[in-house]
Amino acid sequence: MSAAEILESSPENSFSTAKAAAFEERFVDTLNAGATCLMASVGHRTGLFDAMADGTPGTSAEIAAKAGLNERYVREWLGAMVASAIVDCDADTGTFQLPAEHAAYLIRAAAPNNLAVFAQYIGELGSVETDIVECFKNGSGVPYARFNRFHEIMAEDSGQSVLPALREHILPLVPDLIDRLEAGIRVLDLGCGRGIALSRMAAWYPNSSFAGYDLSAEAIAWATANAEEQGLDNLTFQVRDLGTFDQDAAEAAFDFVTTFDAVHDQGNPRAMVRGIHRSLAPGGVYLAQDINGSSHMHENCDHPIGPLLYTVSCMHCMTVSLAQEGGEGLGAMWGRQKAVEIFSEAGFGSVEVNELEHDIQNCYYVCRP
Ligand SMILES: C[S@@+](CC[C@H](N)C(=O)[O-])C[C@H]1O[C@@H](n2cnc3c(N)ncnc32)[C@H](O)[C@@H]1O
Repeated sequence: MSAAEILESSPENSFSTAKAAAFEERFVDTLNAGATCLMASVGHRTGLFDAMADGTPGTSAEIAAKAGLNERYVREWLGAMVASAIVDCDADTGTFQLPAEHAAYLIRAAAPNNLAVFAQYIGELGSVETDIVECFKNGSGVPYARFNRFHEIMAEDSGQSVLPALREHILPLVPDLIDRLEAGIRVLDLGCGRGIALSRMAAWYPNSSFAGYDLSAEAIAWATANAEEQGLDNLTFQVRDLGTFDQDAAEAAFDFVTTFDAVHDQGNPRAMVRGIHRSLAPGGVYLAQDINGSSHMHENCDHPIGPLLYTVSCMHCMTVSLAQEGGEGLGAMWGRQKAVEIFSEAGFGSVEVNELEHDIQNCYYVCRP
């Protein structure tokens, strides 16, 4: 249907040309923003933002030489950066400069505020778009193995979003926990990925013992090598499918269990949570960090990163769950109400929902049997 036909078929006076023009403009912005994300991801991965971090103006050749890259590609990338007003350009000198105010959100040294880390998800999701289109037709899922860099990006994301807040904000959500970790307790992290949070805790609390389980052999191999490299002998990792954790969790084996962003993309999240309940020793606590949203779509219209989270969900979290046998496909936007329901259903008598000021993306659930 053409725009003229839509206009003609709509009841008299109901088609607002001003609304249509505003939408057209907004969608053109969306196209530019999507494209800019891809170039920002390239700028991060190639080290170009870091090469421009000191704010010194440079020609494309100078910037390329500093980053050790090909000038022709760097020049085209600079074109995208200038057109999107990320980089300033001086036509007289032919130089380019990254303003300090922009570097503060784009360079590695700016972690935890480096937003370019998150831009990487856009390209990663794009790499499975054709598989996702097929899934829309047949209802299946895209397995983890189809994603080239997911664990790498996720570890980088966790390294700057979880680690800096872990000791100061996240662990204190459980009163006395830090004292207990210092004295020595047994800790388990499920869906641990590359084990970023766990290895940091193992280094901080040598009297405690730490275990991490994940389905991904690749992520566990990385985590194990990293623990060895750091000489952490109080930390072990295992490749495990947590889809049957309700049956194979060792009873009362842990004092503190965590999941960081690792419930909603499980194939069988309910079994994992029931297993967590079973694995907790008396006095034990389960701390779950997971995406903050409402389980009711209409309540997420004003969510500051709603479009991003629903997209990541559809093209990763939901689909990797559906790809597992009997996968529930909760999706990243399963929401607080559904989370409380699942934790309560698993036997947790107390489920406390916390939000932290530093983190617009997550909720922190403190669950006690
Ligand atoms: C979003 S990632 C979070 C990784 C890590 N906790 C972090 O915050 O960096 C979710 C993790 O759950 C794992 N996972 C998904 N399904 C699983 C299953 N059935 N059994 C074990 N782990 C699973 C994935 O391999 C992935 O590492």
